[in-house]
Amino acid sequence: MSNIWFHPAKSIEKIASSVAKECFGGEFDASVRAADPRFADFQINGALPFAKKAKKNPREIASNFVEELKKSGRFDESLVEISIAGPGFVNFKLSAEFLLKWLGRYKGEAALKDAAKSFYNGKKVVIDFPSPNTAKQMHVGHLRPMVIGETIQRLLRFCGADMICDNHIGDWGTNFGILIYGIKSENYKLDPENENALEDLERMYKAGSAKAKEDPSCADAARDELVKLQNGDPENTKLWNDIVKISKISFDKMYERMSLTIDTTLGESFYRDKVGRIYDELTEIGLACEDQGALVVFLKDHERFAKQPFIIRKKDGASNYASTDLATVLYRVEHFGAEEIVYVTDGRQQDHFQQLFLTVGKWFDAKGYRKPELRHVWFGTILGEDGKAIKTKSGEPVKLKSLLDEAVARAEKIVLAKTPDMPKDEIKKIAETVGVGALRYADLSQNRSGDYVFSWDKMLAFEGNTAPYLLYAVARIHSIFRKIGVQENSDFENDAANLETPQEIELARKLIALPGVFDLTLAELRPHLLCTYLYELAGVFSTFYNANKVIVEDKAVMAKRLMLCARTMEILETGLRLLAIEPLQKM
Ligand code: ARG
Repeated sequence: MSNIWFHPAKSIEKIASSVAKECFGGEFDASVRAADPRFADFQINGALPFAKKAKKNPREIASNFVEELKKSGRFDESLVEISIAGPGFVNFKLSAEFLLKWLGRYKGEAALKDAAKSFYNGKKVVIDFPSPNTAKQMHVGHLRPMVIGETIQRLLRFCGADMICDNHIGDWGTNFGILIYGIKSENYKLDPENENALEDLERMYKAGSAKAKEDPSCADAARDELVKLQNGDPENTKLWNDIVKISKISFDKMYERMSLTIDTTLGESFYRDKVGRIYDELTEIGLACEDQGALVVFLKDHERFAKQPFIIRKKDGASNYASTDLATVLYRVEHFGAEEIVYVTDGRQQDHFQQLFLTVGKWFDAKGYRKPELRHVWFGTILGEDGKAIKTKSGEPVKLKSLLDEAVARAEKIVLAKTPDMPKDEIKKIAETVGVGALRYADLSQNRSGDYVFSWDKMLAFEGNTAPYLLYAVARIHSIFRKIGVQENSDFENDAANLETPQEIELARKLIALPGVFDLTLAELRPHLLCTYLYELAGVFSTFYNANKVIVEDKAVMAKRLMLCARTMEILETGLRLLAIEPLQKM
């Protein structure tokens, strides 16, 4: 039965579909779903609707089907047992022997990765995150795109995608007029070496913007600076360059602390000379038209967007977020060969991306360009305990750096209280992992499209669905191996006895559920599904470990239980790494 391996449900479905097609034609639905775990692992229910339509007895159809499945020779009965239940459900139960073989085969992260690569099979995927706007310090609002984006990118890479992370920074736009005006009116010297430069820029922007609101002559002056920049004035171009440089230096520090893998940073400004082709092509195919001086797209067959235009060139002739994004899609397809593009942003940009995707669809169809799959991975807001977006006392968004520092400081106290004898530098290292990991996990474990309430106590707890709980579960398994003096990566599978106890079987089944979890998580790019799985796995492991002694006389029993420990540890570690939380051996 070499046919059914890494992802048993998928392989059963594949075989069953082709068998069903041969004996019943295309009408039989052979999709596999989870079965009641008391009786089986998977179930195919297609016999019922098929029989109803054909006016036949469903049990008879099911038994025909089972006969054909067995005859196909593609199921080894010692590994998967096929039976009929109820009015005509077909059940598949993986044997203890199958579970053991699976666990022997997918040993360690490299083997898992090698098997998982079939999900994406080298598909070229561009992921667009964290894509912050320049000239602003990072604040709490930047946490979600970084955390969610990095996990999705790691998961896609792990599952075989050929990834490019393209950080699409906001480095072009009207705000530069005000900013340059603010800098000039203070006679401020921009210095990329100055640590506070970004803070100063933020302050000058605010001041400039307030002045422009009050006094029309200031607003005019700011607009003049913008026009000069757009026309390539050397002085303003130099200022703009420095502003972007200062922003990047500060962002880079944050990316490093947040363990992001960014491949390229092109940004909005890169596309400013590429928008002409967009205006021309969209006009030529009749998709864009002039409306009150602007160039816009009305999506006629859409309820809302038929009236709410997608503005792609402003009245004053300037490009905008929409035009640069259109040019970006084209560039990613033509230059990177993107087959799929994933955008990670706030939920408030849903309209923008819907309009963008629909426009690209029509445009690419008309021009005969190869269309990439476009996905908007959006997320909700982080709320304070009062149910409102979290802010500092003065109403400013909390700076990301201070949030991370506080997480680490709080984690340090907790770790110190738990292990007072540990060396100071080790505690520091653990605190960084636990603190930042707790922040990440609190975010990732929530369904991304909802808002969630930020709570230090909850995220740093060693009980419940948290990073400290999972990190501790992993460290505990390492300590089991340390105690016995055995290497985690030994070849236990060679000496392992059959799985027998209900806890062994339950744990093994949970372990081999990993590919199904990847499948589910990839379908909608929702990392909380992976988190839930890891949390449940740690729980099932705990039950197993409490009920089944690992250190026993019988060598074969001990080998099998050590193997279960090792596989659990590896899958938990693999999962944590996908969440960009580096597991610890001790804590
Ligand atoms: N800079 C934008 C923001 O901060 C996000 C950009 C997302 N990417 C894109 N291609 N539109 O809201």
